[in-house]
Amino acid sequence: MSNYAVSASVLSADLLNLESEIRKLSEAGVDMIHFDVMDGVFVNNITYGLPVLKSIKKLSPDMLLDVHLMITNPLKYVREFAESGADIITFHIESQSDTMKTIEELYKTDVKRAIALKPDTPAESVFPYMKYLDMVLVMTVEPGFGGQKFMDMSNKIRAIRNYADEHNIDIDIQVDGGIDDKTAPVVKKAGANILVSGSYLFRSENLSETADSLRKAVD
Ligand code: DX5
Ligand code: ZN
Repeated sequence: MSNYAVSASVLSADLLNLESEIRKLSEAGVDMIHFDVMDGVFVNNITYGLPVLKSIKKLSPDMLLDVHLMITNPLKYVREFAESGADIITFHIESQSDTMKTIEELYKTDVKRAIALKPDTPAESVFPYMKYLDMVLVMTVEPGFGGQKFMDMSNKIRAIRNYADEHNIDIDIQVDGGIDDKTAPVVKKAGANILVSGSYLFRSENLSETADSLRKAVD
């Protein structure tokens, strides 16, 4: 994994023209595609799943697919998502699946392993698992929808970064929700290095420039 990266959330893309949207992202040099899977139970929204992920992988095999599972029972599905093209799989610590069993299931695949924390979940809850993970995702909005207002989680990000440094754990910290040119420097300062961007990126006039400016904010 590169030190700093932008992961484009296709939730804000024009889904009717997903193919050209993905091509644009690839041409704009976006590092990863953030793929939000919602089951209507873990969050109050339903998005897309395995067949769409497979199609994206087929279209752009070289782009990293960063799958964010907002589902009740990730343990049941991680293997299928891995086989469908995911490069990184993030599941929520608040889900109903046993956290360690889900990590073990991920170890059976060759995807990167990550855990997400909702805004009310403390940093400490992920500490015991960090040595088994490649990434921690700190949500800066309540999961479920794009275009929400950023919640400052700097203290949580800092606590996770400090714990990683103190225990020599090499880990990425991703942030997701309300990231734009103003909030990117805030999360970077706290220790995040992968920025998910949905509405800000897709609403911009020039995708490539916006991706660059976000990446620079963390360079
Ligand atoms: C929200 C999703 C996010 C969302 C981010 O539950 O996990 O990935 O698409 O969208 P923005 O960048 O618009 O907040
Ligand atoms: Zn997400």
